[in-house]
Amino acid sequence: MRIIALANQKGGVAKTTTTVNLGACLAQLGKKVLLIDLDPQGNLSSWLGKHTESLPKSMYDVFLGEAEINDILENSCIEGLEIAPARTDLIGVESTFANETGRDTILKRKLLPMIERYDYIMLDCPPSLGLITINALTATREIFVPVETKILALNGLVTLLNTIQMVRDRLNPILEVTGIIACMFDSRTTLSNEVVQRIRVRFQDKVFNTIIRESTRLAECPISGLPITLYAPGSIGAEDYMNLAREVINGEKPANVLVS
Ligand SMILES: Nc1ncnc2c1ncn2[C@@H]1O[C@H](COP(=O)(O)OP(=O)(O)O)[C@@H](O)[C@H]1O
Ligand SMILES: [Mg+2]
Repeated sequence: MRIIALANQKGGVAKTTTTVNLGACLAQLGKKVLLIDLDPQGNLSSWLGKHTESLPKSMYDVFLGEAEINDILENSCIEGLEIAPARTDLIGVESTFANETGRDTILKRKLLPMIERYDYIMLDCPPSLGLITINALTATREIFVPVETKILALNGLVTLLNTIQMVRDRLNPILEVTGIIACMFDSRTTLSNEVVQRIRVRFQDKVFNTIIRESTRLAECPISGLPITLYAPGSIGAEDYMNLAREVINGEKPANVLVS
């Protein structure tokens, strides 16, 4: 059982695209997967047809203590893939709990009863390093960082690594970046090639061998309401995310230890 936070405070780097498509591929390979939407924009939830404003309860209610994750679970179009949706009210977490003790560990406590039921729990983080992301980083041992290879934005990675270090020191000593995913790769540009080369020098074996190529099909699939493997099964996007899923499974590490 692994809990994985998909984090990068930059928006538009493929966190949600990777959470949905990697999650779907893992489920199609026979794993039990739960995707937790932690972004008040609710992109993951609306992608998978959980129209966010009409939901009776969502992740905000879980943070407030008015629901358990189990109460808000939704099925998806893929067997073995479940979703804990979010809607815009989730942004309230940042102010509601601003000064409360234990505010950083709310999600970790809410996840405890769920962990035996899944092989993978994936946390789709918002594009910020606020309280929601801190909760995600406190609840997991593993972080996957999607990196957009179309621009040279490695400075942002330093900010993220500093936050991770802070969480490790204060809240969660076992936290680690276990996977860097090069996304939106365009092999025709020297820039994409250079970004991949630089992250491989800097992060070495933490960078997945699988590179997610830029693909129109991938850009289209949120509107289709399907993950790439159902929307365009023969596409390069489907191939790349399936390869990534195999790599994630093959790199399986020992059971995730949640220190209380
Ligand atoms: N490999 C790719 N090829 C083409 N477009 C992509 C690819 N990955 C992501 N996108 C698009 O880039 C945009 C940002 O991706 P998204 O997953 O929403 O980022 P984030 O969750 O980090 O904000 C979306 O419009 C998405 O469809
Ligand atoms: Mg997103």
